[in-house]
Formats: sequence, structure tokens, C-alpha cells
Amino acid sequence: KKFKFKSINVITFISQIFTTFEFTNIKCLSFDKEFSDFETCRIKAVNRTYKYVTFKCNLYKGPIKKIKINIVLYKRFNGYRPFMYNITVDACRFFNNQNSNLIFKYFYQFVANSNIDHPCPYEDFVELRQLSTQYVNDLFTNVLPFPEGDYQLEVNAYAYDIKRAVVKVYGTLS
Ligand SMILES: *[C@@H]1O[C@H](CO)[C@@H](O)[C@H](O)[C@H]1NC(C)=O
Ligand SMILES: *[C@@H]1O[C@H](CO)[C@@H](O)[C@H](O)[C@H]1NC(C)=O
Repeated sequence: KKFKFKSINVITFISQIFTTFEFTNIKCLSFDKEFSDFETCRIKAVNRTYKYVTFKCNLYKGPIKKIKINIVLYKRFNGYRPFMYNITVDACRFFNNQNSNLIFKYFYQFVANSNIDHPCPYEDFVELRQLSTQYVNDLFTNVLPFPEGDYQLEVNAYAYDIKRAVVKVYGTLS
């Protein structure tokens, strides 16, 4: 499931030695609570080394057959500024042709093997049960290396072209 960019192996090797990722916060917001709402949204620390983020969003108007996902990566300079990626995809189409957008495919790995990872339609709920520090660390630093800093990954979800929810995950790469 994992893919690697061969040309950046040297940078990858260097970043493997020097960087570690830590979650600092997660925020979930529903814009229409009759359409969907979050039941859970939090960081959980099992012990000193094992931390994960989790959320569950109930869907009240399913089955949902038209979904658009916008992902924006922010990095903190003076406040958070958009950094490198701002991509929007038709999620239902993407699922059936995952090589159509390699950057989105990269971010999609964060939810691989969760109950979000399935073709349309979506109904009942979407849940990311456990996205662990280690897993993000691996994707963030070993697959595509990023510079040190404070990051925010914002995921905006649209259903039938109306913005329904946003999930913001904050973390530090040091
Ligand atoms: C922390 O929790 C994880 C997951 O339950 C476990 O695999 C790991 O061994 C624990 N580490 C320590 C130091 O207790
Ligand atoms: C992302 O790109 C879209 C389309 O170009 C734009 O409308 C939107 O404002 C951008 N978002 C941010 C946070 O810059």
C-alpha cells in the first residue's frame, strides 16, 4: 500500500535520523448538525510513547453519493499559512482511480484501513479509530520528508457541494 518517491531517498535518509512527529491538537467542526455531527474528536495518550488521534462523525442524511474533499496543509510562521498543498478531489471518483492524484493518494494513506477507506456511498458514520504518532511519523518523515515546524492539516468535507465539516489536525515535527 505504501509508495515511495525514489528520487528523494537521500533526503529521506537524513530526515529519518533527525525528525519526529508529535500530535498537539485536533479540532472537528460540523457546519450543519442535522446533516452530520461529531461524536468523538480527540487526542488520546495511551502511555508516554503511544499517542493517537481519533474521531467519529455520524451521518444523518445518508447514503451520501457526492463528496468532495479539500485538503490544505498549513505551516506556522507568524500564524498558520498555507504550505505547499491545497488540493480538492471528488472523493467518490478518486476511490476508483487512486493514481489520478498522487498527492491526494499520499494524504489518503492517513485514513487507510479505517472505515473511511471504502467506495461511495457513505452512510451511518465515518470513523478514524486510531491514527497513531508512529504511523504519521512514518508517512510524514520517511515517505515524503517535510521540514521541521508546527503543522496543521485541514480537511474540509463537502457533500452535494455544500461544506459540511472540517477536521483540523495539529502536529509538530522536530
Ligand atoms: C504503549 O502502548 C502501546 C499500545 O498499547 C504498547 O504497544 C506499548 O508497548 C506501550 N509502551 C510502553 C512503554 O508501555
Ligand atoms: C485553496 O484553493 C482554492 C481553489 O484555488 C481557493 O479557493 C482556496 O481559497 C484555497 N484555500 C486556502 C486556504 O488558501
